Amino acid sequence: MVFLGQKYFGGRPEHPGWAAFNKAFFRFTVFTITIVGAVTGTGIWLTTIALAPLGIAHMIRIFFWAWFFEYLIFFSEIVVLLILYFRWDSLVDGNARTLVRLGYAYVCLAVISAVAISANLGFMLTPGDWPASHRFWSAVLNPSFLPQLASRLSFAFMLGSLVAMAAVVFRGEDSFRADALRLFGTVLAAATVAFSIFLGIYVSVVPRAFTGQIAFSVLTSHFSRYPEIFTVANALFFAVIIASAAAAVARRAVAVKLLIVPAVISMLLLVTQFERIREFIRGPYLLPGHMYANGILLEEMPKLKATGVIAASPWFAAVYPGGATSRGAFLFAQNCSICHTVGGINDIRDRFRGRTPDGVRVILGHTHELAPFMPPFAGTDDERSTLADYLVRVGRDEVRHSSLSRSLVEVRHE
Ligand code: HEC
Repeated sequence: MVFLGQKYFGGRPEHPGWAAFNKAFFRFTVFTITIVGAVTGTGIWLTTIALAPLGIAHMIRIFFWAWFFEYLIFFSEIVVLLILYFRWDSLVDGNARTLVRLGYAYVCLAVISAVAISANLGFMLTPGDWPASHRFWSAVLNPSFLPQLASRLSFAFMLGSLVAMAAVVFRGEDSFRADALRLFGTVLAAATVAFSIFLGIYVSVVPRAFTGQIAFSVLTSHFSRYPEIFTVANALFFAVIIASAAAAVARRAVAVKLLIVPAVISMLLLVTQFERIREFIRGPYLLPGHMYANGILLEEMPKLKATGVIAASPWFAAVYPGGATSRGAFLFAQNCSICHTVGGINDIRDRFRGRTPDGVRVILGHTHELAPFMPPFAGTDDERSTLADYLVRVGRDEVRHSSLSRSLVEVRHE
């Protein structure tokens, strides 16, 4: 938006004050992009590696060169931003065309990043024929790749134009306010229409079993009894955004001033939902057709059912004491603890309180039928009994966990 504005208003005598405004706006965007990017970029690797190390390990194997390439693109983005940042004044005065060209180069690099990210994230939702073919290009060109990329690009334009409108109404000057509002309002309106269309296509290529979970994923189990909250809230978010686009196109600065903060908040809530829904609805899978959410591969299920999770784990013999409680705790850690805690959110004790070991054993054979999010139990029949006994004891608060690990129990409770 900075460069779009520069192209239309930069250096025009009828828009005095634009140069100073745009420089300040550019500084603000550079700081926001680099700070938010650094915090969330590092944060995402820390959290995903802590929560799903096997998921990340497999993603790195599948997308190694794509990520390597994306790293170079990302590096180039920072270099272009820094050049623009430090050479801004001399470019504006001496070489305004280069400034706009460098701006577009930055936009192109950012779009390449969006391509790479949409390929990864689309793959994690709709892997297409990859589980059978294991071909890199099947993973990249998965069914939701293009619609997701198009949705992401259009909401990037929506967010960008909303922020630009906010800057114009609160910090801009009269000489260009009305014209700039019309420009950014038009971009916002076009991007909103595009987003609605691409979002519709995106949702249509996601399997029904997944899209059925959309309202639940946003509202959580408690509020999903009232799915209309989801519909009404989102209709309201879109209405506020469309109203601010209309006000901007009509050059009504006061109306934009009133609407812009709710509109930016609505946009951020839409983006948050977009990501949360995508992460949540794929249910029992981390990578559909390949890996369950607990890191267990679909293809290793038969082996784990036949020979057992404990026998398959080199860690168990090396680290764990080996008694029945310890085996139960390990089975819980492998199968359930990615989504259930003992004493925290989604507490497993609430799920089994008051049940007999046999009752729990039966339930353990049907976890994948009870809720659409749960994978089937991995392990032998014996292991199922061990886990059932353990869960009953956990429900009676008879097991004390070692402070740093949910799967290491204190030996005196063996
Ligand atoms: C991928 C995440 C995930 C995994 C892994 C998982 N669960 Fe769940 N489980 C959930 C969610 C989500 C719910 C539903 C919460 C709600 O509706 O409030 C749930 C609900 C339950 C319920 C209640 C079902 C009902 O019908 O009320 C039981 C029992 C349960 N889990 C046991 C287990 C056990 C035992 C394991 C390990 C063998 C396990 N879960 C593994 C996510 C998971």
